[in-house]
Amino acid sequence: MIANGDITDSATARTALAQSGADGVMVGRGAQGRPWALAQIAHDLTGTPAPVVPEGAALADLVIGHYEALLSFYGTELGLKIARKHLGWYLEAAGAETLRHAIQTGDDPAQVIRLLQEAFLEPAEAAA
Ligand SMILES: Cc1cc2nc3c(=O)[nH]c(=O)nc-3n(C[C@H](O)[C@H](O)[C@H](O)COP(=O)(O)O)c2cc1C
Repeated sequence: MIANGDITDSATARTALAQSGADGVMVGRGAQGRPWALAQIAHDLTGTPAPVVPEGAALADLVIGHYEALLSFYGTELGLKIARKHLGWYLEAAGAETLRHAIQTGDDPAQVIRLLQEAFLEPAEAAA
């Protein structure tokens, strides 16, 4: 049996396991924009290797790589639409929302990538 709902980190995962007696947990919204949260919870609860949490240029590379993969897999027209929610989650999780509107409405991938680099390389300035 698997428990889920409002599990966002190791503390809430532990609580859900203790309260439900379930065999495991699933995480939905808590992993949006921070997919490494799953490996972090597994590390804290079971001792699997801790994830490297990407920041700055590494985070920009991860998000841009995901964006390019979505466009490649779905084609540009559908990929642009599907990518919007993922980019919004990444920006929200990083607290870098100043460029969110331009990024989510942009239909020129090269320009969106430039904006993503700006947003994640300088999140504090972009959010200021
Ligand atoms: C973006 C998104 C897509 C989801 N898609 C499905 C789905 O296709 N089928 C389903 O049974 N639940 C779906 N869910 C519900 C989740 O499986 C989960 O039950 C719910 O989000 C509560 O868990 P959470 O608090 O960890 O997000 C989805 C949730 C989200 C946020």
